[in-house]
Amino acid sequence: MRTLRTVPELRTAVRAARRQAPHAVIGLVPTMGALHDGHLQLIRQARLECELVVVSLFVNPTQFDAAADLAAYPRDEQADAGVASEAGADFLFAPRAETVYPDGFSTSVQLSGPLVESLEGAHRGPGHFSGVTTVVTKLFNMVQPDVAYFGQKDAQQVLVIRKLVADLDLPVRIEAVPTVREPDGLARSSRNVHLSGTDRTKALALRAGLAAAEHAFAAGERDATTVQAAAVAAMTDLGVTPEYLALVDPQTLAPVTEIADGTLVAVAAPVGTTRLIDNTILGSN
Ligand code: PAJ
Repeated sequence: MRTLRTVPELRTAVRAARRQAPHAVIGLVPTMGALHDGHLQLIRQARLECELVVVSLFVNPTQFDAAADLAAYPRDEQADAGVASEAGADFLFAPRAETVYPDGFSTSVQLSGPLVESLEGAHRGPGHFSGVTTVVTKLFNMVQPDVAYFGQKDAQQVLVIRKLVADLDLPVRIEAVPTVREPDGLARSSRNVHLSGTDRTKALALRAGLAAAEHAFAAGERDATTVQAAAVAAMTDLGVTPEYLALVDPQTLAPVTEIADGTLVAVAAPVGTTRLIDNTILGSN
């Protein structure tokens, strides 16, 4: 695996690969590093489906709402390079911040409407998703992949990226990969390293809340308010109060009053000083 830092270096490497195999499918896995098994699952899937796999590693400052969160974000490029290579990456594109945002950078790619204003958009501020859509547009232009892989763990991000691609006619196919979990059900996240002993136990509240919604649905309950209350109660029982726990349409993110197969249950909650998110699709398991 080669590590590339600049856009010309990346373009030369990708062009050479395309020349060698003109019909090669190029896959991109965008990440912010601190790679764990969730990221590696995306890379493994890309390896199975693509001839060339590019993993990008860039802690994107424009999508962080708090400077402290950006500063605390775990970074270990050497370890990331090792595991990305093992999972099947051909190139690690790890640009410096000034490569992505040179002095005078003044363009942003911004969606509007409920997809970016609800859930994470409402709680993390409007800048979060414009930071994501701006950097992802840049990464797509830099790498020019045929397919890009995103995790269902960030369900709203997948919808936002799909809308970005549709609205701007970007020639990239988007693949969503199921959430990878710890054996006890906690969704893998780069932020889990911040969870101390008791917080690590409390973090299970998110999965417990989602499981309560799944059980209520499986038992025949269809009223969203009732299911939401059961899910929130399961979390507060474990000492965690959700920032939001929402039952929404899986395409539009509009709140539903009556739940059905496919309803998305999305949750965010602070555990200690760490903010975690998770979600489930009702009727899918
Ligand atoms: P990051 O949080 O590093 O996540 C990179 C990709 O890994 C995302 O698509 C995310 O959904 C996926 N992922 C994270 N945890 C996962 C898990 N437990 N199971 C499956 N997939 C998981 O998301 C970002 O970075 C950034 O917003 C980015 C798209 C790179 C733009 O900066």
